[in-house]
Amino acid sequence: MNTESVVPLVDGPKRNGTLPSATNSALHFPKNFLWGTATSATQVEGHITNEWTDFVAPDGKHCRVACDHYHRYREDIQLMQDLGVKAYRLSIEWSRLQSAPNALLNRTELERYCDKLDCLRAAGITPMVVLHHFSNPLWIYRNGGWTNPATVAAFENFVTQLVPALRSRVRIWNTFNEPDTYASCSYLLGEFPPFHKVRLDSFRSVINHMGAAHLRSCEIIRRAGSAAGEIEVGYTKNWTHFGTLKPNRPWDWFMAKTSHTIFNRWVMDAFTRAGRNNAATFQGLNYYGRVRFHNGHSLTPARGRSREELARLGVFSDDMFERYPPGMETVLLDLHRRVGLPIYITEHGAACDDEKFRIADLRANLTAVHRAITQGADVRGLFYWSLLDNFEWQFGYTKKFGLLSVDFSNIKLPRFPKPIAEIFRTACLENRVP
Ligand code: FCB
Repeated sequence: MNTESVVPLVDGPKRNGTLPSATNSALHFPKNFLWGTATSATQVEGHITNEWTDFVAPDGKHCRVACDHYHRYREDIQLMQDLGVKAYRLSIEWSRLQSAPNALLNRTELERYCDKLDCLRAAGITPMVVLHHFSNPLWIYRNGGWTNPATVAAFENFVTQLVPALRSRVRIWNTFNEPDTYASCSYLLGEFPPFHKVRLDSFRSVINHMGAAHLRSCEIIRRAGSAAGEIEVGYTKNWTHFGTLKPNRPWDWFMAKTSHTIFNRWVMDAFTRAGRNNAATFQGLNYYGRVRFHNGHSLTPARGRSREELARLGVFSDDMFERYPPGMETVLLDLHRRVGLPIYITEHGAACDDEKFRIADLRANLTAVHRAITQGADVRGLFYWSLLDNFEWQFGYTKKFGLLSVDFSNIKLPRFPKPIAEIFRTACLENRVP
């Protein structure tokens, strides 16, 4: 079954930079490839009031302090510098900055973000700023969130104030992180606030409103320009490959096909139709792996199956999804052909306690990225998810994606590099698959 054949084709590819080389079995990446790491505000900052603040995950934990990155960003930037990363993808938390529709941005909080961006610049780290990463001010959330068309104008007002305020510090903007995951977890699967299930109409209206807000944000950002250099802007699609464990299983095939249509095709359509693709300068991709169906169930730890049980079925996963490095290559080539914009891999990573597994998995995925680049995909960078172990939404602190661990049992929340950090550091410093 080819579930990847339905995403619409837009422009042809434009490539820039040099092709990578493979010498002495070392896989070198193109010059200026942007090696980075990523976090999001709700997952690391703490001290935020949004729809996640009162959520208690099954592990009994909440995000009210998280990694306390809000107070410790200077130290975390130093750790990033030690890692050799060239870029950092962070989100700016709307709820911190605006207390009501059309209100002026909170000066103190804005200055704090400015200071963080200045620290990044001083460390030689390029910021990529995400405008929306799974969270909203309560006055948006309580008013229907992104199902309400008025949210588009409210967001536009926020962006209209924020972008000029940061134009001297930011040149790479990521409008929306994974509208697909946000809308499906909130309105189809009941896993994110407001925990609704099977509300297909709500899902569609969220995606359409976010698509419209993405277009407006791109226009505002391009109009504002940046004193830090050439503007780059795009949204990020999570790409999950959907398939079946066994051939000739019509029900499993139907589930895979339906998941692909809703999660991938509808979302790609909403963000690229009516000239929306031309508004962006890049396509963001978050890639973790695939989901296969078997006897009507999805085979992933995220849906409650153990890694050991899955391995017995031939499904090799981290603590979230089936890993599928070949899918990294195919999705990059597919997006390259169909969207035709340069691509940033804005998130990629694995969660588990087995560092050997994570390291092998990282190598396999970087090799797949390299293969896609040698075949012409214009991939400009990769941001490892995540800098730190952090608050993983509906799962609390049980999924460990960090390059660095955080000891959450210690009130000082100390950070320690994990073995994978050394491998990633080599990739960043030597621009190759180590
Ligand atoms: C992505 C999210 C990110 C994190 C990773 C594991 O879907 O964008 O916040 O949860 O998955």
